[in-house]
Amino acid sequence: MPKHKFHLAWFISKGYGPKGWRQPWGGPNPHNWVKPDLLVHLAKELERASFDYVMIEDSSNIPYTYKNSHETYLRLAVDSPKLDPSVLAPFMIQATSRIGVITTLSTTEYNPFMLARLTNTLDHVSDGRSGWNLVTGSNDGGAQNYGLERQYPHDQRYDMADEYVELVQKLWDSWDADAMVIDRDQEIFAHPDKVHPVHHEGHYFRSRGPLSAPRSPQGHPVICQAGGSARGRTFAARWAETIISSAGSVAAMKEFRDDIRAQAAGFGRNPDHIKVLFLIAPIVDQFQESALARKQARIQEADTHIDFYLANMSRLTGIDFSKYDLDEKLPTLTTNGHQTVAARFSGRTPREIVQAGRSLQDVDLVGTPDTVARQMSEIIDAVGGDGFLVTDPELTRRYISEIADGLTPALQKLGVVRSRYEHVTLRDNLLAF
Ligand SMILES: Cc1cc2nc3c(=O)[nH]c(=O)nc-3n(C[C@H](O)[C@H](O)[C@H](O)COP(=O)(O)O)c2cc1C
Repeated sequence: MPKHKFHLAWFISKGYGPKGWRQPWGGPNPHNWVKPDLLVHLAKELERASFDYVMIEDSSNIPYTYKNSHETYLRLAVDSPKLDPSVLAPFMIQATSRIGVITTLSTTEYNPFMLARLTNTLDHVSDGRSGWNLVTGSNDGGAQNYGLERQYPHDQRYDMADEYVELVQKLWDSWDADAMVIDRDQEIFAHPDKVHPVHHEGHYFRSRGPLSAPRSPQGHPVICQAGGSARGRTFAARWAETIISSAGSVAAMKEFRDDIRAQAAGFGRNPDHIKVLFLIAPIVDQFQESALARKQARIQEADTHIDFYLANMSRLTGIDFSKYDLDEKLPTLTTNGHQTVAARFSGRTPREIVQAGRSLQDVDLVGTPDTVARQMSEIIDAVGGDGFLVTDPELTRRYISEIADGLTPALQKLGVVRSRYEHVTLRDNLLAF
């Protein structure tokens, strides 16, 4: 009998970029990717499946790490191009009423006041369903678009982000909840004594405030974070309410979640108020054989498009993998980019990494909806919580339906995920169990 009920969310890998343009079932008009249609469809289908949230990935540069050129990135649309996620989010919000919409915004690209204002506005227009995927940036190419020679040092980015969040939260709190009265008889729009300048004078940031808009429905939009390194985990445990992880095995998932909860308690937080969701890319089909055949097809596709995946690995780590032999084990890698990813690549051959893709090392989420549902439930019972972040780098309407209409009903039948929303706001739904 399953022990734990858990949360489901979706990771829109490669952000507001082209999806499935060279895939079967990629749809009739690939040029249409610039319109929000497919991703609005995704949000509506996931709401029908009672997912907690959809998270829009982002990075705002055309990478050039692989072969020191942007050639592969543009020829094969590797992690680029991407339109602005903060323009996409309102379309998804407008088309839905319950699902949370989490937008990725970088602390080394956005000024803190601008970000506090943008996230507050998204929370207002969504009736409290908005979240912020807090990233600190990783790729030098990105930093060079914002006036920097290269990215700040890894741990310093998190030190800056600590002060950044302190300031953003002060700005979110700068209007008391009852400041805006709109009293037509008294002709009072807002009580001046209930709106407060913040006068923040910090080591990295300065801002007078108050925020230029009233307190939003959630007050603080939900913070999502994916720090995996030692410094990243401490940062996430201090600030985030949902933490996403690409831990590659059940043991790694448990270790990560237990560590985050322990560190959060150290900050005086209730660990149950933090929902750790693990990244998975399940393959579900009507028959076990057809699901396995699709997994094989994915491995073959990776082999014939190895440049695509090596370029992606290079962007994430800032390491040019064209310099390594495909079938030789990689040395211990160090990076100023995604340290968790570099650690996960170390000691394996580039071909092994490419063929493994997003599969877990010890559980193969490949099969019929009932099989995969049982496996997911067993993982959560072993780890202790709190859910999964489903993704497919080559998103198609077919895959959305397989997850929303195939896998989710199988999970609902087991009673391990919700069948209807308990609340309106993202935070309340995350805290429902
Ligand atoms: C599921 C998931 C989603 C992520 N989404 C983004 C993103 O949208 N933009 C980004 O710049 N980084 C993203 N990251 C990277 C993290 O923010 C972080 O930089 C990375 O996990 C490395 O952290 P570390 O250096 O502390 O190990 C994501 C990571 C994970 C696991």
